[in-house]
Amino acid sequence: MGKIKSASELSKLRQKILSKRDPKKPCITICSGTGCHAYASEKVSNAFQEELKKQKLEKAVDIKRTGCHGFCEKGPIVVIYPKEICYLQVKPEDVTDIVSQTIKEGKIVGRLLYTDPHTNEKIVHESEIPFYKHQKRLIFGNNRKIDPKNIEDYIALGGYKALAKVLFELTPKQVLEEVKKASLRGRGGGGFPAGRKWETTRNANGEPKYVIVNCDEGDPGAYMDRSLMEGNPHSILEGFIIGAYAIGSHEGFIYVRQEYPLAVENTEIAIHQAEEYGLLGEDIIGSGFGFNVKIHRGAGAFVSGESSALVSAIEGKVGEPKPKYIHTAVKGLWGKPTCLNNVETWANVPFIIDNGAEWFKSLGTSNSKGTKIFSLVGKVNNTGLVEVPMGMSLREIIYDIGGGIPNGKKLKAVQTGGPSGGVIPKSLIDTPVDFDELAKLDSMMGSGGMIVMDTDTCMVDIARYFVKFLSEESCGKCVPCREGLRHMLRLLNNITSGKGNAGDIERLEELSEFTRDASLCALGTTAPNPVLSTLKYFRNEYEAHINEKRCPASVCRELIAYYIDPEKCQACGICTKNCPTGAISGKKGIVHVIDQKKCIKCGACIDVCPERFGAIEKISGESIPLVPKSMKVKSIR
Ligand SMILES: Cc1cc2nc3c(=O)[nH]c(=O)nc-3n(C[C@H](O)[C@H](O)[C@H](O)COP(=O)(O)O)c2cc1C
Ligand code: FES
Repeated sequence: MGKIKSASELSKLRQKILSKRDPKKPCITICSGTGCHAYASEKVSNAFQEELKKQKLEKAVDIKRTGCHGFCEKGPIVVIYPKEICYLQVKPEDVTDIVSQTIKEGKIVGRLLYTDPHTNEKIVHESEIPFYKHQKRLIFGNNRKIDPKNIEDYIALGGYKALAKVLFELTPKQVLEEVKKASLRGRGGGGFPAGRKWETTRNANGEPKYVIVNCDEGDPGAYMDRSLMEGNPHSILEGFIIGAYAIGSHEGFIYVRQEYPLAVENTEIAIHQAEEYGLLGEDIIGSGFGFNVKIHRGAGAFVSGESSALVSAIEGKVGEPKPKYIHTAVKGLWGKPTCLNNVETWANVPFIIDNGAEWFKSLGTSNSKGTKIFSLVGKVNNTGLVEVPMGMSLREIIYDIGGGIPNGKKLKAVQTGGPSGGVIPKSLIDTPVDFDELAKLDSMMGSGGMIVMDTDTCMVDIARYFVKFLSEESCGKCVPCREGLRHMLRLLNNITSGKGNAGDIERLEELSEFTRDASLCALGTTAPNPVLSTLKYFRNEYEAHINEKRCPASVCRELIAYYIDPEKCQACGICTKNCPTGAISGKKGIVHVIDQKKCIKCGACIDVCPERFGAIEKISGESIPLVPKSMKVKSIR
């Protein structure tokens, strides 16, 4: 393929690609994102290839390996077009049935369909599965239709049309004004208006100007940027080139963490292909505008995602933050104006150019426009990546998309915003999710982490978990963050292990304030959020741990005990066999008893005790009832 030299050549190429594709021809798409890959989707793809060959169908049916569909827990996901028949958790052994029945005879393989857990209804089409039905998949939706290693798939869907439009129809200033008018806010954490940042870099003194894609994504459990980068790298590239044009930059860096090998691979291929097609490099689409992109692999430290730390890392220095007397937008890479935006922020840009700022502004709330991708995880039936319009309530996300809380348990809280975010209690789940509403609740949007917690979650332990993460990830350069977090962690460790003292809550509050006010970068200034928000909404749990040496959710090991209810024990012996320390005594017909001195509280006994007996209980803050030696089992059930 030669280089595209004009907007009309790009449009002709799109027509040519589409004319070669028969929309009625069956196409088996197999998700090959990292999640499905871990479930051996590669073997499923190979099995399809062999089976089609065996059944002499390789010419009649296409196969496509796509990016992540978002519903990773149900992977590997296979969707067959044009009917959009969706099969979940497909194994290589299922492939013969799919080809023989669905492809050849048009029949549905019922066992591979999604079954609604509430109605038992089987759902054939991907878009009708409740997990997808309530989403607005603007940025993420094309992942399932595209082979990320094939630029023509992206072009066929209208890809690079927005780029051609800006290069030939708009001045850089007009592009900037359109993005400003759209009120696009950064998706990487702070929600800073993208257009304003672009303008600052554009107007700053100094050449060359640089642009950066931030795909560090260090939040535990978050993987939206990775999935977009793996599944639709051209959408990010296109937004990135448009941004560079508006800002007046000719050199950009994509910063991806080393632990994302597939994202790196697919982005490298995308850059190479875009260059080959004349969509990147010198004289893009014959417009005279040139822009080159390099990938920088990050070493995988959470703090290196912070803008000044990331800039240092690209410069070849240690990836730790610097004081921001002057912002990176004015003085960034090698002291030059540098505009850094998150993956999802850049990916929004082609949509704004294609559809206009007014259209974009019609999505979302008054101050948060467009959609947001969340990583919905924790105690929720449907986990995965969800994209919703800003303003959708937490309730709708958790219940309509997430399918509610598993095992008949009740919702307790939701943690949003990653490790530096906050916990929102159940009583506030009708809150519309946008930048400002979450901030009002002392949480934040962050990059889109959303962890659902049921009533078995200890809020002090949650705060301890995040503070431990942040304390380990603090670069240690500034004392308030390094020492403040260390002391907070020490106090939280004491409280959760039953060694908390009166005054610890006040000390935590004081340390939080000090760390928030005096730290060098936003890692430290936001790090107290998990403590402050749990204290705000669940202070009684802290008090129970300290004053009563009790963990109300029965989670903190040092504060709980396992106890076998003699009324319920059937002396089946399963717990005895599974106890790793031999702490359980009991014979046939005799009630089993746990020796508390030997018990290491691993919970193996409660996990194996048959549900119909439910004889083992976790207790906290109560004395363990004495069971007479050799007590006989009451009744055999
Ligand atoms: C400790 C820390 C880690 C961060 N990690 C990321 C990250 O992984 N990805 C990201 O886009 N922004 C991250 N940020 C935010 C960036 O500093 C910056 O604000 C953002 O990339 C700007 O892009 P946006 O305006 O498009 O959101 C982090 C900030 C801090 C303080
Ligand atoms: S990786 Fe396949 S659905 Fe996410």
